[in-house]
Amino acid sequence: MRLLFVGDVVGSPGRDMIKEYLPRLKDKYRPQFTIVNGENAAGGKGITEKIYRELLDCGANIVTLGNHAWDNREVFEFIEDAKYLARPGNFPKGTPGTGLVFSKINDLEIAVINLQGRTFMAAIDCPFQKADELIEEAKKRTNVIFVDFHAETTSEKQAMGWYLDGRVAAVIGTHTHVQTADNRILPNGTAYLSDVGMTGPYDEILGMGKEAVLKRFMTSLPVRFEVPKTGRTQLSGCFIDIDAKSGNAKNIQRMLINDDHPFLMD
Ligand SMILES: [Fe+2]
Repeated sequence: MRLLFVGDVVGSPGRDMIKEYLPRLKDKYRPQFTIVNGENAAGGKGITEKIYRELLDCGANIVTLGNHAWDNREVFEFIEDAKYLARPGNFPKGTPGTGLVFSKINDLEIAVINLQGRTFMAAIDCPFQKADELIEEAKKRTNVIFVDFHAETTSEKQAMGWYLDGRVAAVIGTHTHVQTADNRILPNGTAYLSDVGMTGPYDEILGMGKEAVLKRFMTSLPVRFEVPKTGRTQLSGCFIDIDAKSGNAKNIQRMLINDDHPFLMD
């Protein structure tokens, strides 16, 4: 079976890329399941119910989040009822939502786990211990487990990849918004990629307007970051081929769609 994962959708430029390319990617590559990280989907910060539904309508089966999960307060109104929305599972006990969701099509079922790193990020519960817990729960239903590890450092992401090698189908990083070139299958069958990259503005800084980001770097003054509504855009993702019985990955392929890497339908 094949999974398509699309990285951090940033604001309306990111959502427009999803609308335009998700159907074409699904047509061309025929993934059974599509997972989209949507933690920046609402104006670069958080997610709303309307956007969550829009992502599902465009073909996502499951939407994952990250450190911006709570940035748009609307999330609290629907997260408990959102069956296909995963927030980092290692947020403290009592946090709304869940870090483990399932999607089933015919007799194929996948479990998707969302975790967040702790290095240069908020001090939350241990993602490694939480991974153990959630994997045990997931295995009661399916062998096919996908992990979106939302983290800042490549070292913490690699550590998670090695820690989970052979126990999950894939450990794919999100959050840094820049796609890394280290896609591989680890020795015990887990697909790994430090960061899948970002879907949104192509000529800005991590998807945010570059003038404001530059001003922050050059003056240290507080500056409001915004997602520019116009300009060139990109989509970042990866495909993973998985043996559904064992839950081991066979192949992982990176994908970038932008003016420097145009999408070809043939
Ligand atoms: Fe993030």
